[in-house]
Amino acid sequence: MESKKHDLVVIGAGPGGYVAAIRAAQLGLNTACIESEKALGGTCLRVGCIPSKALLESSERYHEAKTALSDHGVTVKDVGIDLNTMMKRKRQIVGQLTKGVEGLFKKNGITRYNGRGRLAGPGKVIVEGKGSVELTAKHVIIATGSVSADLKGVELDGDRIGTSTEALSYPDVPKHLVLIGAGVIGLELGSVWLRLGAKVTVFEYLDRILPGMDLDTAKEAQKIFKKQGFDFRLNSKVTGARTNESGCVVEVEGAEPLACDRVLLAVGRRPTTEGLGLDTVNVAQDNIGRIEVNEHFATTEPGVYAIGDVIRGPMLAHKAEEEGIACVERIATGYGHVNYDAIPAVVYTHPEIASVGKTEEELKESGTAYRSGMFPFLANGRARAIGDTTGRVKILSDAKTDRVLGVHIVGPRAGDLIAEAAVAIEFGASSEDIARSSHAHPSLAEAIKEAAFDVDDRVIHM
Ligand code: NAI
Repeated sequence: MESKKHDLVVIGAGPGGYVAAIRAAQLGLNTACIESEKALGGTCLRVGCIPSKALLESSERYHEAKTALSDHGVTVKDVGIDLNTMMKRKRQIVGQLTKGVEGLFKKNGITRYNGRGRLAGPGKVIVEGKGSVELTAKHVIIATGSVSADLKGVELDGDRIGTSTEALSYPDVPKHLVLIGAGVIGLELGSVWLRLGAKVTVFEYLDRILPGMDLDTAKEAQKIFKKQGFDFRLNSKVTGARTNESGCVVEVEGAEPLACDRVLLAVGRRPTTEGLGLDTVNVAQDNIGRIEVNEHFATTEPGVYAIGDVIRGPMLAHKAEEEGIACVERIATGYGHVNYDAIPAVVYTHPEIASVGKTEEELKESGTAYRSGMFPFLANGRARAIGDTTGRVKILSDAKTDRVLGVHIVGPRAGDLIAEAAVAIEFGASSEDIARSSHAHPSLAEAIKEAAFDVDDRVIHM
């Protein structure tokens, strides 16, 4: 077997792995990255974040052309959908970005191996692709991500009953789509198909949507989604789903089975650790299969690290990126740190939902005294001008020090606006700091400034 030596081998080229590889190369490490798929970029670029955003944009434009352009005095006739073009555009965007990562690998002198990587004892990784290659490295980072979790009784057929991967490529608009799970994936992909004309029913086990998000923000979003046409069935435990001659049937505890023509299972994701050879080294896993790491992403095996969806914490691309950078900086320089309080989370529905820092529930639970400020987009001039006034900004700050602890936004471009809040938290800003920072007028960001004013009961435009 051919053998090669590197300073660092990264297994997996998703946002965590490829970013770690680039940063390591910048820091002078001889770096290799192993990826089993032809395209680099992982789930996020190939069948996750990027293609879903492409479809969310296209479907929103269709919906807007049909329902809202006339308010602007723009008349359009015969608005229709060409699903093939929509899908082609999505594929082109994915192609450009995955090729872009290839270019970045070349630019940074990273050796890329196409095949499956597995540990084969301390400091050894075997790549099984067309042939086999044995790699030796002082440092190995596991960045193998996650896959959709199964649900007992739900018979995935890779077509009518599928996961997010299938829902990104339905060949036609479903008449009736059933979502299992009112989490991020369900609501984003449900939005795509709802806008394109599908009836969408959502079964959610809990009594709320978007578990983990600030409750009051999730309730506000739920009201908006209900108006858009989502049929929410909360407190509903799905126990099975299967195909039949006429389509699919979904079984729910304590309710009549529901017939539909497509089912999207979105009940979470689980870490990908099978076939990684973890048993050949001393890498500990927790009771749900995640790799255990310390604050520097080191596993229980010296020289082996893990980042991203395979370890604890939110399964988010940008969280994995932060961890990748901190992990290699620590290896190369002795320093590297991730501030988990400053990692935003965004749901790319319309309106978008974005949060960073603590939720009100978390603050109550920890007994932290806090003040809150709120400002609706209805009172924001730019939101009026763009005709998108749903939602609001909420800021939570420490009652004693006024330090910003959490920001929760439902509203237009919330996913972009949240960056200001993340920077504020990272820099330990107070709500007063935000209130005293000049925000361009007219801009959606002024709603953040006004919410900060409201923390101190001195909101201007309300
Ligand atoms: P999720 O964990 O967000 O939501 C799953 C939902 O399914 C939960 O509300 C849960 O209560 C419900 N559920 C579980 N069992 C059920 C049952 N038997 N019947 C009915 N409902 C049931 O998981 P999701 O949406 O699959 O997303 C997976 C991961 O991907 C998340 O960690 C998410 O953060 C990430 N993601 C992030 C995106 C973003 O940042 N915009 C986009 C897409 C995914």
